[in-house]
Amino acid sequence: MSTQGSVLALGKCLACLEFMLFPVWRGIGASSSISWSQEWSRCLKWEFDSRDGGPRIPVFDYPIWFVFCRGGRARIREVYQRGRGAIRLPTDIFDIHQVPKVFREDGIISGYRHPRSSALDCILSSFQMNNETINIWTHFLPTWYFLWRFFLLGSTMDFLSDSYAWPLLVYMLLICVYPFTSCCAHIFSTMSPESRHICYFFDYGALSLYSLGCAISYGFYVMPDCWVNSWIQQHFIPIAIGNSLLCTSMSCYSRFVELQFPQRSKALRTGAFVVPFLFDTVPLFYRVLLSCWGSCSLGEALSNHCYHLLFAFLTCFLFTAHLPERLAPGRFDYFGHSHQLFHVSAVVGTHFQMEGVLADMSSRRQWLQTHGLAPSFLSTFGALVLSFVLNLGIIAVFSALLLWKPRPSCGQQHAPTCGCKEQ
Ligand SMILES: *[C@@H]1O[C@H](CO)[C@@H](O)[C@H](O)[C@H]1NC(C)=O
Ligand SMILES: [Zn+2]
Repeated sequence: MSTQGSVLALGKCLACLEFMLFPVWRGIGASSSISWSQEWSRCLKWEFDSRDGGPRIPVFDYPIWFVFCRGGRARIREVYQRGRGAIRLPTDIFDIHQVPKVFREDGIISGYRHPRSSALDCILSSFQMNNETINIWTHFLPTWYFLWRFFLLGSTMDFLSDSYAWPLLVYMLLICVYPFTSCCAHIFSTMSPESRHICYFFDYGALSLYSLGCAISYGFYVMPDCWVNSWIQQHFIPIAIGNSLLCTSMSCYSRFVELQFPQRSKALRTGAFVVPFLFDTVPLFYRVLLSCWGSCSLGEALSNHCYHLLFAFLTCFLFTAHLPERLAPGRFDYFGHSHQLFHVSAVVGTHFQMEGVLADMSSRRQWLQTHGLAPSFLSTFGALVLSFVLNLGIIAVFSALLLWKPRPSCGQQHAPTCGCKEQ
């Protein structure tokens, strides 16, 4: 481009900028009849009209909040179609009736990815707006947050030689693993119906390991004083291992009955996660009750634990209720559907839980080290490795059942919908 040309372009830009800034500068209410957003889009139009025959640049020519109002979905799609040409993203976006039944989600009408995407497309699709994008990022970023906290702790604590810190080490490891696994599950779940099931098997496995991590840290740091050295503390971790196996098996099994009995499947899956949660939280409930009857003042640790409980109930509610998309199907396809809120609430809850565990660990250290049993290698890493291996085995068994049975999921039932997707 010649110097003259670029000067001309710069001039145009400045003129546009001035025109753009002008209404803002004057204040939004200053112009009598034209609103700020009208001014803005007119500015962009002027920019388009004044260039002669050049290629049109895709522009997001309305404010972000518009997406949340009427017609937001159509607008997003329009922007997406325009943007796709410019940035060359590979995947297309489909409506609910264009994808096989296994992929469908109550209240989500659009934003579905191709049900047979390649792995690369899956990864690229996390940078594109579809119904899973926010789900992916709401667990990807927290993974880094927890890793960062983990490394900060690692620099102040001697994780390896101080056996009192081992339960914390296991817990921190698992709160980094579960959001990351979930994030990967959301990324790769649209490669095929089978991959979708297997991805979520791993997601459930990671969640049930996380429940074991909670049990290990609660068993050593959170137990009420009167339960230290009791039968329940001695059997807390073995029972938690059993719970984690039960949780993985039940939640994986629930995927097999999802199409025939959606209600039963949902109840099974919810139960699978509520049982270990309730078991893990019994010592905590007891401590909260004790301190409510007693002094009525919760310390730093207990108030963090209470926030965690609050968010845990919210998480469970969001998971089962499918609000808000149930009330307005199609309105929350991209932003604000229950699964995103569920992710956020789970992560915020985990944050408070971590703060509570850390506070208990440091404030009760003296007392626990003189009165309680010291964490052994077997009861921390041993439990983790055992549960990890057994959970992997369960996932392998369910994956084998899925891959070897005469697939009713996509093969016969939904052949027409599957077929018409292959363009
Ligand atoms: C988003 O779309 C995918 C298919 O691309 C589907 O499997 C998934 O269930 C949908 N997720 C949500 C939260 O709607
Ligand atoms: Zn999720």
